[in-house]
Amino acid sequence: MDIVQRISQLKEEKNAVILAHNYQREEIQRIADFVGDSLELCIKAKETDADIIVFCGVDFMAETAKILNSDKKVLIPEIKDIECPMAHQLPAEVVRKAKEEHPDAMVVVYVNTLAETKALADATCTSANADRVVNSLDCDKVLFGPDRNLAYFVSKRTDKEIIPIPEDGHCYVHKKFTVEDVKRVRREYPNAELLVHPECDPEVQDLADYVLSTGGMIRHVLNSDKKEFIIGTECELITRIKLELEKTGEEKVLIPLRKDAICDPMKRITLEKVERCLREEKYEITLDEKIIKKARIAIERMLSVK
Ligand code: 13P
Ligand code: SF4
Repeated sequence: MDIVQRISQLKEEKNAVILAHNYQREEIQRIADFVGDSLELCIKAKETDADIIVFCGVDFMAETAKILNSDKKVLIPEIKDIECPMAHQLPAEVVRKAKEEHPDAMVVVYVNTLAETKALADATCTSANADRVVNSLDCDKVLFGPDRNLAYFVSKRTDKEIIPIPEDGHCYVHKKFTVEDVKRVRREYPNAELLVHPECDPEVQDLADYVLSTGGMIRHVLNSDKKEFIIGTECELITRIKLELEKTGEEKVLIPLRKDAICDPMKRITLEKVERCLREEKYEITLDEKIIKKARIAIERMLSVK
């Protein structure tokens, strides 16, 4: 029996489901029951009737699955160096302090945050729904963090005052994209559409044809009549889109905006680790019950926004 067959057998024996983010390695995407963006993964995690959720992604994503399923066993195949650095840029104390300074503001935090931070928010959001979540709130002022670039994206789509917390929250992968990169690819591929993630710097967003979540990019490429696309996000999204195109047999040209846009924590998960995770049932995500209760309210509020 090979490793893929062993994973499949263990999954069946234990009534487990494997959820994976769009940035996971190809072999993980291929064995996952569902691959998606942060919002789609939240929805799947909430809906599943499996007893065990194996989450192939970074720390905050597995925590979110646990918050939505506190009675289920949520496992992550690796525990070391699996943190999304951005999620650690907005500690709960910073939110508490900002709330004291702006008592009339509501708090929206990106799902790329730790559970303690989510517990202090009125609502969470993802890159797929940040503007809709902010616009759904009954207030004029919103404390928004940690991603300063997502805050910029939202501020262009709302009349509310957006106050970024902290000042300089960012994703080290999307920070790599520059105006020079955009000029170079536009020169080399004049017919291609440029799709970038809202975690990119404002000047890069402003030069793009579309600013989309990873799930939004996939849908855009699959539904477009165009043939060439430059992908301004983590490189593995190209693998993800290619796997979708394989199903239809359609040919499209996908060019990375930069070849070194790699999220290292996302790449820590391997087939061997998934197999061990299912066999030994580790590493289990555990969170304080009070934090779970409060954070769930903020996530549920996001999920209720259509
Ligand atoms: P998406 O929700 O668009 O998949 O983004 C998650 C993420 O971490 C992007 O860096
Ligand atoms: Fe975090 Fe950036 Fe990696 Fe997304 S790409 S998980 S924001 S470090």
